[in-house]
Amino acid sequence: MTVEQTLVLIKPDGLEKSLTGNILTRLSETRLEIAGARIVRVSKELAETHYAALKDQPFFQELIDYIIGKFHGKRKVMALVYHGENAISKVREICGATNPEEADPRSIRGAYGRITTSGIFENAIHASANPEEAEREIKLWFCPDEVVYNIYPVKETKVKSVKLLAWA
Ligand code: PPS
Repeated sequence: MTVEQTLVLIKPDGLEKSLTGNILTRLSETRLEIAGARIVRVSKELAETHYAALKDQPFFQELIDYIIGKFHGKRKVMALVYHGENAISKVREICGATNPEEADPRSIRGAYGRITTSGIFENAIHASANPEEAEREIKLWFCPDEVVYNIYPVKETKVKSVKLLAWA
């Protein structure tokens, strides 16, 4: 048994269909712990970095448009870090196969995913495939202080002259 962490994204179709609660309930069957959670308005840059390995795929542009929320009323995703023993395989199992038509109907993608008429997988959820991908993705979507454990080494930095929004 290995203690791992994994990135989960509840995609814009999941938010638009009000599936957040259902998906979190299904994920709670894993008995893993949520170590971080954010609602994120996804920029094109973040989407392209997240899916960089797929940039030569014929569906890349649609994949980017989908994750930034272009096809849905909700231009946001919910990003989560799950932590615990064998987190990656436990979450992937409950998500089901990437293609929602091939996913076990009892899995999250089997129950809630669909393939659109233009062939895009709207599969409601993303989950990291392996420890290297999980580390890259968690570091992309979360700052160290947004995750309750120091899951990866951190360093202290001083940031000068950075413009930030503050409550007026
Ligand atoms: S996986 O689960 O990462 O092993 O799957 P993979 O087959 O490598 O697919 C990577 C992501 O590409 C998405 N995908 C597609 N999107 C739109 N249309 C088509 N035809 C398509 N095929 C694959 C797939 O949903 C994966 O995204 P995530 O966010 O991981 O689900």
